[in-house]
Amino acid sequence: MSWDQVWIDINIATMSPNISEPYGAIKDAALAVKDGKIAWVGERSKLPEFDVLATPIYKGKGGWITPGLIDAHTHLVFAGNRANEFELRLQGASYEEIARSGGGIISTVKACREADEAELFELGRQRLNALAKEGVTTVEIKSGYGLDIETELKLLRVARELGKHHHVDVKTTFLGAHAIPPEYKNDSDAYVDLVINEMLPQVIAEDLADAVDVFCENIAFSLAQTERVLTAAKDAGLDIKLHAEQLSNLGGSAMAAKLGAKSVDHIEYLDEDGVKTLSESGTCATLLPGAFYFLRETQQPPIELLRQYQVPMVVASDYNPGSSPMCSSLLMLNMACTLMRLTPEEALAGMTRNAAKALGIETQVGVIEAGMTADFCLWNISTPAELSYTYGVGSCIEVVKNGRLVHQ
Ligand code: NIG
Ligand code: FE
Repeated sequence: MSWDQVWIDINIATMSPNISEPYGAIKDAALAVKDGKIAWVGERSKLPEFDVLATPIYKGKGGWITPGLIDAHTHLVFAGNRANEFELRLQGASYEEIARSGGGIISTVKACREADEAELFELGRQRLNALAKEGVTTVEIKSGYGLDIETELKLLRVARELGKHHHVDVKTTFLGAHAIPPEYKNDSDAYVDLVINEMLPQVIAEDLADAVDVFCENIAFSLAQTERVLTAAKDAGLDIKLHAEQLSNLGGSAMAAKLGAKSVDHIEYLDEDGVKTLSESGTCATLLPGAFYFLRETQQPPIELLRQYQVPMVVASDYNPGSSPMCSSLLMLNMACTLMRLTPEEALAGMTRNAAKALGIETQVGVIEAGMTADFCLWNISTPAELSYTYGVGSCIEVVKNGRLVHQ
């Protein structure tokens, strides 16, 4: 066998559904990489013979390898911050009240309109570094803090540039329908027209987005408006997804699922009929425990129903300045377990296998199997549950991206 690198003295949480052990685990394993792909994975005792003198051999000191983590929902390109609103909320104001009085998303929009691409790029780069340090190898980044053509395109261009210049892969999502901008305060339908007829064609012409998202909520876009945007996106051949059922139940999830959405996100208020619709359409349910925590939500997403109907659960950071200013993958694994009662195995599936499905890249990444892209992490842990159990100890010791060692 001729390989580019071989890993031994490792255990592997493959997260493959084809291995019946919890976490798809293979203990005392070996893994071989060739041309950026996983070439062989299995028990070390079964490792085929290879040229030990010509092949770099990495020893994992008995740690665990997992697929590279995938953060499938972030808003990480933005300027400014909203610490002032954090203080207001501590004095009793609600997220909704702040949004209605012109703060919230709109205050970040002001900062983003003023910022130039270089500034946004540097801020985004620092945040990507923070995620990468904790094992993230793929991230989704949304626009949505521009709400005019120029700024929406600027945010998406910056996101695309980050993907070109950072080892972390970036999937971009156009979220022009994130909030109603002040200029269209009294005519939200006209803003939806702008999103569909002017922004979307430009986004497509410049190939700036892989998917389209909308915030479907009383403080944002109605069900009918949301359906118009998602239908236009779908007709243009883009993936669709939705911020839905975060603060109330408008039926956005079921509508988006029927249109073939890859995921519906937040979903604290999703009901059983909605869950059924997700399972029928193969739509993922993205849980955002950072926003649940930071907004001190009490309405639990319907975890037991999602299990019952076998809807793939995704866990993501939703990193943004308003509702989830926590730029951490491992903290999300922990919060998914402590706040939403996921098992550590479900949480890890939510940032690997299921996150890949939510981004439509499940044939390339998210599990450790021969033929998949060689995106994986080595952790200094003695059981995979430690990933969600403890936080802040720097347990990610190596990251391999496309078969290249990127972090030591
Ligand atoms: O995912 N829900 C809508 N959008 C973001 C919050 C954005 C903000 O407050 O800046 C979210 O939670
Ligand atoms: Fe979000």
